[in-house]
Amino acid sequence: MTLTLRCAAATVESMQVLQEMTDDVASLARDAQKVAVLTGAGISAESGVPTFREVQTGLWERFSAQDLATTDAFSANPALVWTWYRWRQSLIRQVEPNPGHIALVEWQRHLAERGGRLTIATQNVDDLHERAGARVLAHLHGSIFTHRCAECGTAAQLPDPTYNGFESPPEPEEPPVCQDCGAHIRPDVVWFGEMLPMEAFEATAATIRNADLVIVAGTSGIVQPAASLPLLALERGTPLIEVNPELTELSETMDYCLRGSSGSLLPALVSAAAAQ
Ligand code: OAD
Repeated sequence: MTLTLRCAAATVESMQVLQEMTDDVASLARDAQKVAVLTGAGISAESGVPTFREVQTGLWERFSAQDLATTDAFSANPALVWTWYRWRQSLIRQVEPNPGHIALVEWQRHLAERGGRLTIATQNVDDLHERAGARVLAHLHGSIFTHRCAECGTAAQLPDPTYNGFESPPEPEEPPVCQDCGAHIRPDVVWFGEMLPMEAFEATAATIRNADLVIVAGTSGIVQPAASLPLLALERGTPLIEVNPELTELSETMDYCLRGSSGSLLPALVSAAAAQ
């Protein structure tokens, strides 16, 4: 069964949203002891970090985010790709976690106090879950804050970039080079066509297989193999809830689709979970 609940804008008070939820969703949230959450770019959208589906401006107006997140793009135009990531790194440093991130922290604490657990696996390369106070099980696509040589893999320590993340830089900057082999330094993120870190992937698969409720928030469900992870819940018939304002590639397999922003719906789910 797929139930679509229509929820309005992020400004809706969480209790109002909660009242629109069915008893089913509220009781799933209340009864779950082992909750696995998979997040994507959408959970950081209300903090001001653009998702990978948004139209870009400035230096990158002719490129989609997906065009830039590849080894081919980095080989063809290292400065353009490097500057895009450094600029996004600056932007992430300038923004704050939003109520969606904070709700997951509250749920994590609530369950921990009762002997349960909530695990977070994210496709996001930002650190907004951590800055909200959450423990994150897995960053499936790496971190924008660490860097390594594109050839020999040696880790590189770099100062923080100094871009204004709210404005596109005037011109691209060449990436630094590796002190060991002289090749370009790249962000330590997973690009399209690259392998995900095995440990992060397996830990996420295990927590989803083991969960009694799976929440999929703010992901388009397009990028594999991360998008296939929630489907592991189907093996045991574990309920799946999607939180997203839009229909996604995963919506059909969900038991419940909560249509709205994670900044309003996750706090509502947590209120339901905490209700006695
Ligand atoms: P996408 O950018 O593909 O999708 C973002 C999703 O967030 C969409 O489904 C939106 O409808 C949804 N969304 C937007 N605003 C939202 C809000 N306020 N609350 C909840 N949801 C909202 O992001 P991902 O699915 O995370 O990979 O993409 C996964 C990967 O694709 C990224 O890690 C990156 C990207 O290309 C690589 O770089 C390899």
